[in-house]
Amino acid sequence: MSSKSKIQEYDLKYIWHPFTQMKEYQDESPIVIEDSDGIYLIDSDGNKYIDGVSSLWVNIHGHKSKEINNAIKQQVDKIAHSTLLGITNPMASILAKKLIDLSPNGLQKVFYSGDGASAVEVGIKMAFQYWMLKGKKDKNKFVCLKDGYHGDTLGAVSVGGIDIFHSTFNPLLFESIKISSYDSTSKVLDDLNKLLTRDADQIAALILEPYVQAAGGMKIAEDGYLKEIRALCDKYNVLLILDEVATGFGRTGKMFACEHDDITPDILILGKGLTGGYLPLSATITTQNIFDAFLGDYDELKTFFHGHSYSGNPLSCAAAIANLEIFEKNNTLLKLQDKIQLFENELQEFNGLRSVSETRNKGLMAGIDLVKNKNTGEKFSLKDRVGKKVCDSALKEGILLRPLGDTIVLMPPISINDSEIKKLTKATYKAIKDVTENNV
Ligand SMILES: Cc1ncc(COP(=O)(O)O)c(C=O)c1O
Repeated sequence: MSSKSKIQEYDLKYIWHPFTQMKEYQDESPIVIEDSDGIYLIDSDGNKYIDGVSSLWVNIHGHKSKEINNAIKQQVDKIAHSTLLGITNPMASILAKKLIDLSPNGLQKVFYSGDGASAVEVGIKMAFQYWMLKGKKDKNKFVCLKDGYHGDTLGAVSVGGIDIFHSTFNPLLFESIKISSYDSTSKVLDDLNKLLTRDADQIAALILEPYVQAAGGMKIAEDGYLKEIRALCDKYNVLLILDEVATGFGRTGKMFACEHDDITPDILILGKGLTGGYLPLSATITTQNIFDAFLGDYDELKTFFHGHSYSGNPLSCAAAIANLEIFEKNNTLLKLQDKIQLFENELQEFNGLRSVSETRNKGLMAGIDLVKNKNTGEKFSLKDRVGKKVCDSALKEGILLRPLGDTIVLMPPISINDSEIKKLTKATYKAIKDVTENNV
């Protein structure tokens, strides 16, 4: 075993890592990331890696962005934090205006939290209380999708649909109604239609990840389906909550995935890329109509009794404003379209590999499925740890990835350039071939 640095020692001794089997982790020498350069991460030995999953889907314009660094520095010299309970701060106000200007028409109010899961909790509670305030006490159930993922707090898990993550906690969850996954978009629409025809009176909202079920395995819905979802929710008076924590901020080729179908949700949830991947911040954005239902004299107790210590944190908001300004200044979304085309072409190559059963992408979000036998569809066993082995192998090629089981995820910062896209895909291709064909 290689000798460990102090940092690795402290880590192994004191940190319990998220979504990590610590028995397995304890036998390894964790990489220590201590510097960065654009889309590259740099470890304590000076090795450079392409940040192939945007530091878990958060980074947008690369690391060490001058503009975001400066915005945070300027803000920290004024004040790092003051509460948003009953008072305000410039950064939170300016960002709220920017978000409303940017969001689909009809969204009007921004509620801040710190992470994606918290923003989902806010969306669920907001939708629930809205119907209570409207006197529709029976409209209290939530519809969600199989293979959906909305975070790890209990409300978010209640509307989640990934058994391997969620089923342990079943006894702690509120009941939700699960319809199909993006394995079949037509079945999602069919299930929803049948359900709403029968039970809309009891349903508060439908929550889903627009177009890409990310943590569920990068499953992608068919073009145009969101329009039909919106129409069904309208017809049956059910709120539509879109969780764009993963898909927001250009990942799918548009600023928000719901723009592909030009629809407005009743509640839009943003997180991850909101600050460009710098600081924790999330937002639950809703309509004037929902907001108005909560207005009244204090003793009517219509207040939305929910909040977080760091809601609207000025440092996070300053980072988010700078992040949005970079989109404008650099014409990021326009430039993205050619990159997506190149990325798609590169992904085609993977289908020639013996173990690759399918590649899918929406914008720069992609999944590459690995199977033991392409002809029969036989999967690798959990014990094989093939997804992990491929990512370990990619590391040697200078690429940092994190798989979803045996689906290899590619989701680089959208600032990635053409030659970096090629480097990322070629190295990943080699890693898959080495592990699954060459036994390297
Ligand atoms: C669609 C979606 N919603 C919510 C979350 C939870 O966000 P957070 O990890 O910031 O709580 C995630 C995280 O991956 C996500 O992909």
